[in-house]
Amino acid sequence: MIAKNEKDKKPIGTREWYDFVGLLADILPAIHPGGPDATRALLEMCGPDATSRVLDVGCGSGNTACTIADDYGSHVYGIDISEVMIAKAQERARRQGLSGKLEFRVADVFDLPFEDDWFDVVVLESVLTPLPGDKKQALKEIVRVVRSGGKVGANEGTVDPGAPPEIMVLLEAHPAFQGHFTPEKLRDLFERSGLEVVEMREAREIDIPQATKGIGLGGLLKFMVQAYPKLVLRLIRDHRIREAQKIDNEITKISKEHMGYALIVGQKPMKK
Ligand SMILES: C[S@@+](CC[C@H](N)C(=O)[O-])C[C@H]1O[C@@H](n2cnc3c(N)ncnc32)[C@H](O)[C@@H]1O
Repeated sequence: MIAKNEKDKKPIGTREWYDFVGLLADILPAIHPGGPDATRALLEMCGPDATSRVLDVGCGSGNTACTIADDYGSHVYGIDISEVMIAKAQERARRQGLSGKLEFRVADVFDLPFEDDWFDVVVLESVLTPLPGDKKQALKEIVRVVRSGGKVGANEGTVDPGAPPEIMVLLEAHPAFQGHFTPEKLRDLFERSGLEVVEMREAREIDIPQATKGIGLGGLLKFMVQAYPKLVLRLIRDHRIREAQKIDNEITKISKEHMGYALIVGQKPMKK
């Protein structure tokens, strides 16, 4: 067991950070740049339909997975490393009456609990950026579970090549950023992981969705009663979360000028 003061010195990890962010899930319309509009564009680029099996990797609280099941009628699987996120996703699916079309489970992108060539489409939104470890290895694991001719679509934040060094310092200090992408780096990663890039769209603005937008008074009250006290307690108890939150706010300010995002779709080549 790690003694309390030793744990305090250990930097906060990706999973711990997203367990914290998961408490905000009910008031966040998305945890990726471009918000629900970018999701709709990415899905249009991937083209799932009612016969598709779709996987949402790093599905967070299940917003996108529910949208796919509802709008396209696909059978959707969502995986995430955070138990808090998966619990929120299951709750969302139940609330929206979509449980029959969705399966959520805690899993690691590096070791997906699915057979080879199982999915028609895999989406991942803002998962490669926070991912510690070898991102190419993670994408290769995703390619393994997609059928030949199937699509892998991603939305990742991108940093302008000429961005000031301060933004790099902030990105490196934040638990949710493990490296950064430029559009070129993202394309290169897709190609090195065995995908043929079929479409890429770039946005020059990061356009982070505003918390609480569209949740209504009932949603806000529920959040204040259920999640807010837990959030405050976590912030009071863990100075690492307070520090990460501070960096997060700084990045949000600076990102308006120097960050954008890219939507990219790659296809798994047909077997020869
Ligand atoms: C920025 S959030 C995006 C959540 C969701 N895709 C969205 O756009 O709202 C990144 C998500 O990736 C998950 N994640 C991080 N590392 C992971 C891993 N190794 N395997 C699966 N999910 C992971 C986090 O728990 C978190 O929910």
